[in-house]
Amino acid sequence: MAEVPRLEIRNLRRSFDGRAVVDGVSLQIMPGQVTCLLGPSGCGKSTTLRMIAGVEMQDSGEIYVDGKLICDTVTRVPPERREIGLMFQDFALFPHLSVEGNVAYGLRGSRAEKRARVEEMLGRVHMQRFIDMYPHQLSGGEQQRVALARALAPQPRIMLMDEPFSGLDNRLRDGIRDETLSILKEEDTGVLLVTHEPDEAMRMADEIALMRDGRIVQQGAPYNVYTRPLDRASVAFFSDANVRRATVQGALAMTPFGRFLAPGIADGTEVDIVFRPQHVRIDFDRAGVGPVPTAVEGTAARAVVERARFMGNESLVEFRLDHDGSVMKSTVPGVFLPQPGTVMWLRVRRDKCFVFPAGMMG
Ligand SMILES: Nc1ncnc2c1ncn2[C@@H]1O[C@H](COP(=O)(O)OP(=O)(O)O)[C@@H](O)[C@H]1O
Ligand SMILES: [Mg+2]
Repeated sequence: MAEVPRLEIRNLRRSFDGRAVVDGVSLQIMPGQVTCLLGPSGCGKSTTLRMIAGVEMQDSGEIYVDGKLICDTVTRVPPERREIGLMFQDFALFPHLSVEGNVAYGLRGSRAEKRARVEEMLGRVHMQRFIDMYPHQLSGGEQQRVALARALAPQPRIMLMDEPFSGLDNRLRDGIRDETLSILKEEDTGVLLVTHEPDEAMRMADEIALMRDGRIVQQGAPYNVYTRPLDRASVAFFSDANVRRATVQGALAMTPFGRFLAPGIADGTEVDIVFRPQHVRIDFDRAGVGPVPTAVEGTAARAVVERARFMGNESLVEFRLDHDGSVMKSTVPGVFLPQPGTVMWLRVRRDKCFVFPAGMMG
């Protein structure tokens, strides 16, 4: 028997004031799978999640949990009966309830049963000793853990998380994310996590659904989405990007870095050659000459260091190309801080470049 998705949404749509905010979104999440809905602010992520949670009604489309229809435009299971756990930015702990009261909130059963489940869940998030405290007595990270325990206590089929870590400071966030992920993985729930941060999605997701203007434009494992971007905008969304504009002649685009293959693109078409700063290779100047051209790395272009900054794990060096004075960014692991004005030679790995028709910004 084929496995039934924990969550399936089909063709969800929602407009506000005549504008389609969610424009035909379909998704499946299998048990134990974490899917990240990733996209810039305003693209319709939260609205999608709110429809699944049942706090917003779709104009059309269906929602299934474990193969059972829970919402279309006729049927509508109320939010509290959808067996969905929520962790939203604006879905804080109840301030007037203790930690115990918060975690017990959605539970049924006898007092003793509830207490046992609360203790178990607090144990999972390492918060047992806070059981009698109140939310205002806890740090942001501690509140987050209690919120996770509260959401998971009734054993939801699905967890919906809307930027749940955005209120936490950076260092705390990494730890809480990893902890949360390992707890979610122990449950057999399907997780839909909304974020506008690619790093967070890459860190958490089994699958990324890239959303733009109300639609999912690309979906797949983080590695695939990162290494096979749809267009220039997708590259730039995930990281800094260098862009070279060039014109195709005979299926080749000429640049100061040599020729790039542009198969299937008509002569005279403008293309953008897009590459990430970590794929720019730097060589030192040797008495006015650069490295010998190769098939993989093309021709080296002469450039002058504009400025160099240490970023912690890597250094960011900005160059000005002799060819046309344009700026190229390069990142190098560790400490590499050449003086401004230093002459160097840049090459670009062919297998790390993307060639897109120019102006295609999605
Ligand atoms: N209740 C509403 N009424 C009118 N416009 C709304 C409403 N909810 C969301 N929107 C609009 O829909 C768009 C998408 O919002 P949202 O789903 O919150 O985006 P995201 O979570 O991706 O940042 C935004 O332009 C927002 O202003
Ligand atoms: Mg949002």
